[in-house]
Amino acid sequence: MTGREQWASNAGFILATLGCAVGLGNIWRFSYLAGQNGGAAFLLLYLFWVVLICLPLLIAEFAIGRSTQREPTMAFEKLGGRHAWWLAGVPSVLGAFVILAYYPVIAGWALRFFLDYLGGGSEARAGVNPEARFGAFIASWSPLLWQAAIMSIGVAIVSGGIGRGIELANRVLMPLLALLLIGLAGYGLTLPGAGAGLAFVFLPDWSALSDPSVWLAALGQAFFSLSIATGALITYGSYLPRERALPGPALAVALGDTAFAIVAGVMIFPAVFSFGVDPAAGPTLAFVTMPKVFEQMPGGAVAGAAFFGLLVVAAVTSAISLLEVVVAFLVDRFGIGRARAALLASLAGFVVGIPAALGEGPLAWLRISGRSMLDVMDFLASNLILPLNAMLIALFVGWVWRATDAREASDLGPAMARWWRLSLRYLSPLLIGAVLLRSLGWL
Ligand code: TRP
Repeated sequence: MTGREQWASNAGFILATLGCAVGLGNIWRFSYLAGQNGGAAFLLLYLFWVVLICLPLLIAEFAIGRSTQREPTMAFEKLGGRHAWWLAGVPSVLGAFVILAYYPVIAGWALRFFLDYLGGGSEARAGVNPEARFGAFIASWSPLLWQAAIMSIGVAIVSGGIGRGIELANRVLMPLLALLLIGLAGYGLTLPGAGAGLAFVFLPDWSALSDPSVWLAALGQAFFSLSIATGALITYGSYLPRERALPGPALAVALGDTAFAIVAGVMIFPAVFSFGVDPAAGPTLAFVTMPKVFEQMPGGAVAGAAFFGLLVVAAVTSAISLLEVVVAFLVDRFGIGRARAALLASLAGFVVGIPAALGEGPLAWLRISGRSMLDVMDFLASNLILPLNAMLIALFVGWVWRATDAREASDLGPAMARWWRLSLRYLSPLLIGAVLLRSLGWL
């Protein structure tokens, strides 16, 4: 196929991939999981998985995309040499689709909170406490509206294509994101509880390491945060000209994404400890705990607007990547036009996401073993589809893709390439498998 769209520049590609990786995962998800799972110990496990398992996979996915110039299912078909191999790409697209369904729901909450704080935090001034505020909001129908708003922003950007849509949006939004985050983290450090907050992020409680579910949670978080095994890295790699090198961008994305998560911790936990709220609140950390902080803080409405603005920007650059995976699948495989594909994909994601949007309200009766549908989708994606698919990708590149071709496609030097393949052939599948089995209680 001639005329496949491409990134306008290498910097644009790195920025877009960083935009894809940095999202709700770094701020909302990382902070609540770290809060629940021992703070610094969780961070340490996370780093362990990033270096050992995620970096090799990052390069593997970029290599698959760049060398085939196709969306995931066609990419696997092409590399596997048999038609049936297209199936190996299905979990990648499926993973993106499941996340695409519930991610805009949470992004929508952030958008709604952002606008409220931008207006001066009228609800806080009316004296409604944060629990009641958030509770009333998610118990209503209105999350649907905000979910739709995020999806519409996504469609508008993705319809613009790679260079003029996704790349351009990231060029504007990513610097803004960095500024907001650094500003807020700087403010966090001036708070009286900064020492306790930093200790929580950087001083490990080793006892957390004896719990296998903490290992799985950290692994799931590493995959989720780096957007691994969700088709995005393959898809973004497929818009890369063949002569562009991979290891540099892979390293930049892994480091950049981790840095964002750590700085987000430096922003959140000093505030949490300064105002005596609970760091282990779970998924409501950003939406109930943080508003409690903003209420007590001088200039809280401004900090609140900045915090939720940050969340929205981070979420939008990721939501467009999720959408792009499904769009690329529809465009490459079925020859559908980009704008129509964006509409179709977002509509499907919206519909599947409805149970997540209304799961604490009109559809609260719809639960699986007590978990809300939002929880179920997030668990299904991060702790099941992603690890299994990561294993599949590692096995494919390690065993099916011809060694010389794979090595060449990785752009790694001979020594690194050998280590890379060893990691994909043995280390990754074994470790991921062990963590999965162990946390299911089968090992
Ligand atoms: N990495 C994103 C975050 O941290 C979430 C995510 C996972 C994602 N897989 C993705 C985003 C694929 C875009 C595309 O929030």
